[in-house]
Amino acid sequence: MTKRVAILISGGGSNMLALLRDMAAGDHPARAVLVASNDPAAAGLARAAAMGVAVAAVDHRPFGKDRAAFERALLEPLLAAAPDILCLAGFMRVLTPGFVDRFAGRMLNIHPSLLPKYPGLHTHQRALEAGDAEAGCTVHEVTPVLDDGTILGQARVPVLPGDTAESLAARVLQQEHRLYPAVLRRFAAGDRTPLFL
Ligand code: GRF
Repeated sequence: MTKRVAILISGGGSNMLALLRDMAAGDHPARAVLVASNDPAAAGLARAAAMGVAVAAVDHRPFGKDRAAFERALLEPLLAAAPDILCLAGFMRVLTPGFVDRFAGRMLNIHPSLLPKYPGLHTHQRALEAGDAEAGCTVHEVTPVLDDGTILGQARVPVLPGDTAESLAARVLQQEHRLYPAVLRRFAAGDRTPLFL
């Protein structure tokens, strides 16, 4: 049976778009049922809608520091869409363990570093400051620990002389767009062996 996929975004949603395009290309074990954002102005929402995918926006700001209340509101459209798999794609809110547990073993995230290196923010700057010869991205299962969880795939890029955080981020992002769709295809088909590009 075709798996139902929901995607959470906060911004432009270029990774989301890569996932939607791959699912729309056919011969795919999954299909997109919802794209939801914590930012009603997220450009990715219009992009998803233009592809015929249902969208929802739940603004986190009125909830202040009450993450659980925000998540209860987010769960409404999400549970109505009944996803089998939940993909985080540039979703910038930390999720509570209660939320994560609901989707245990079926929530994926893409992170712009070669985990376990550099969980959290400013990954490219940190790789440059450490003098790393390589950088990259990781798709992993989401657990209550930030940017932790079983690694499902990684893609590597070289760090080049003269790189800035921006130039490195752009090189890594190209690989994110290859890696995430490839991992989702495998995951939706029941294959959790890690993919290294
Ligand atoms: C990506 O680099 C992703 O790995 C990170 O945020 C960025 C989101 O980009 N967590 P986009 O919204 O998918 O274009």
